[in-house]
This record gives sequence, C-alpha cells and structure tokens, in this order.
Amino acid sequence: MKKILCFAHRGASGHEPENTLPAVEKAIVLGADWVEVDVYAVEGELIVIHDERLERTTNGSGYVMEKSLGYLRSLDAGKGQKIPTLRELFDLADCRIGVNVELKGPDTAALTISLIDQYIKDRGWHGDQFIVSSFNQRELAKVKELAPHLRAGVIVGGMHRRYSPFATRHAVYSVHPRMDLVNAGFVERAHRRGLRVFVYTVNDPRDIAKMAAMGVDGVFTDFPERIRSLRSLDPIR
Ligand code: G3P
Ligand code: MG
Repeated sequence: MKKILCFAHRGASGHEPENTLPAVEKAIVLGADWVEVDVYAVEGELIVIHDERLERTTNGSGYVMEKSLGYLRSLDAGKGQKIPTLRELFDLADCRIGVNVELKGPDTAALTISLIDQYIKDRGWHGDQFIVSSFNQRELAKVKELAPHLRAGVIVGGMHRRYSPFATRHAVYSVHPRMDLVNAGFVERAHRRGLRVFVYTVNDPRDIAKMAAMGVDGVFTDFPERIRSLRSLDPIR
C-alpha cells in the first residue's frame, strides 16, 4: 500500500483544543506530515478559528467578523489558549511540518499569500510546505492569480460539489473531498486529472484503512497517531 499523508485536522484536535498552538505542537509530536487550520481576516490580521461564530470554541459570543481583533485575542479558545494568529502559528511550526491554510473568511487570499511569501523569503520555508485551500472557489482563484507558484487545494463537500472545471482552469494541486463523497471512481478521475486526493475527516481506523485501499493520497484526521499505526505496516516508511 502506498504511503498516505497525514493532515492533522485543525491541529491534533482530538487531543488539544482545535486550531490552537498546542494542537499544532501535538500534530508535530505525533508525526503528522501536515497541519490543517482555518483562517479569517480581522483588521488585516489572519486569525485561526473554524466557526463564523465564537460560542462553540471560545468563551466569547457573536460573529468573528463583527468583533475587534483586541476582543478576539482576549478570549479563551480552550485550556487558556488564545485564538492564534497565523503568524504565531508559522513561528511555532518553524518549518517542522507542512501547513494547509484553509481560507474560511472573506478577503483572506491576499493576506495569506503575502504572509506565506514572507516566510518563504525570510524564514527558511519552502513553497511546497504550504497548501492553501478553500470551499470558496472565488477566494481560491485569487490565490492562483496572485501566486501561481503556490499549491492550491479545492475542497469538495456540502453545497460545493463541482470542482473539475475550476481545478483545470486554475491548475490546482489537490482536491479535498468529504469522506462520504469518495469512492474508487472519484479517486481514479481525480488522479487522471493530475490531482492529489486528500480526504476529510477520517477518524475511524476502519475508514482510514478503506481510504488507503482506495488509493487516496492523504487524509485529514483529528488523531494523527492513527495514521502512523497504519503506516507501521508500510515498508516505505
Ligand atoms: O480542509 C478540510 C476540512 O477542514 C474542511 O472542513 O469544516 O473541518 O474546515 P472543515
Ligand atoms: Mg478546515
């Protein structure tokens, strides 16, 4: 069986509060290849949080986009952790893991590219240590327009099912489907189009094995150690 890449979903969010710095550190300790995090732009700063509202993951309330950066940074995002900025997250990761930045909020593409390019230029990162992904194909198109050298991933799930015309037009690197949409045909067609297939969110070891058997290239999981145990059967690693 080929090597399957492990993306720690929102960090190792099965172990630490999602999208926090400890979740990123835990992903590294557990040997994940990549960490996936979600971003919004507030007052020109990229912050790392999944929901458009604050209640589920913080002690705040209301919509992220209606708050000041100062308020957002005063909140507890779990175990006393702040909502991190993407900059803080890159600093912590310090080239030790690939970072998949998922653009959740509006107007995040240009800020994300500019930050990534800064870390490539000044901090020893390589371009292939980043993937910028989104459900929002308009935002993702901006990524490829502004930074054709960066890897872009188109996310497929919910209302967002059609990806192939977009993927071809914008030379995207990978398709990130929700697990229930994946079958052998999906994987085969994506590979024929030259796309890697990274599937979310795969936590059950039986599903991990099933995805691996279908030939997917990677999975997003809250429990990176579950991919490693699969790999112990893999002579390549
Ligand atoms: O990027 C894959 C996955 O994170 C997309 O779904 O809702 O967990 O951000 P979500
Ligand atoms: Mg995400």
